[in-house]
Amino acid sequence: MADDQFSLFDAAAGAIAAPSSTDFDAIPTSKSIPIPPGTYDSLDTLATHCRSCQRCELAPSRTNVVVSRGSTTAPIFIIGEGPGQQEDEQGKPFVGKSGQLLEKILASVRLDTEKDVYIANIVKCRPPGNRVPTADEMAACKGYLLEQIRLVDPKIILLTGATAVKGITGEKTGITKIRGQWREWEGRLCMPIFHPAYLLRNPSRDKGSPKWLMWQDIQTVRTKLDELLAAD
Ligand code: URA
Repeated sequence: MADDQFSLFDAAAGAIAAPSSTDFDAIPTSKSIPIPPGTYDSLDTLATHCRSCQRCELAPSRTNVVVSRGSTTAPIFIIGEGPGQQEDEQGKPFVGKSGQLLEKILASVRLDTEKDVYIANIVKCRPPGNRVPTADEMAACKGYLLEQIRLVDPKIILLTGATAVKGITGEKTGITKIRGQWREWEGRLCMPIFHPAYLLRNPSRDKGSPKWLMWQDIQTVRTKLDELLAAD
């Protein structure tokens, strides 16, 4: 048999090499192309790809792709739903009113957004009118988020609100029932918590109120993080 028949299967010759993570045409632009684990070797390359992404219907109306903020080596990974107007304008997650409240919640247990947390969303582009992202939009974006989780490799993942829970674990139980409960997902420790926007709509601080429950949950998270860091 001629040598060139064999060389067709010779990865070293480049014939069957997987698309490289710097091949901009191969990966992000169609939702029919999966983003398998290991696609990215750095968060910077991932962010560059995301900024040219056309995988779903949210792309044409966005101002900025909202990839992340915080520390790329953070022990806590926080997942929101999707960018709002301010996030779309600034290109960073949780910079509006919800973000300000999130910062306060974290600071109340001495968590610093620059050092201790990495923040991203289920979808990286703003759904028009802040509607909930569709299943298709979430699916198109999920590979990026899973790669972010793999590369940051956090000790704890916090899922803010029902969309984040559904987008990651697929669980559809109402957030009120499951908030504050530890979950194991893909070998990682996760906790569903209320979305800060929900707390803004429920200002009571009385015992049993959403804000009070969030205070319990974030203290539980702090205690667990201290335990995990001490065991390292
Ligand atoms: N709400 C979210 O879920 N994410 C953001 O980035 C901002 C508001």
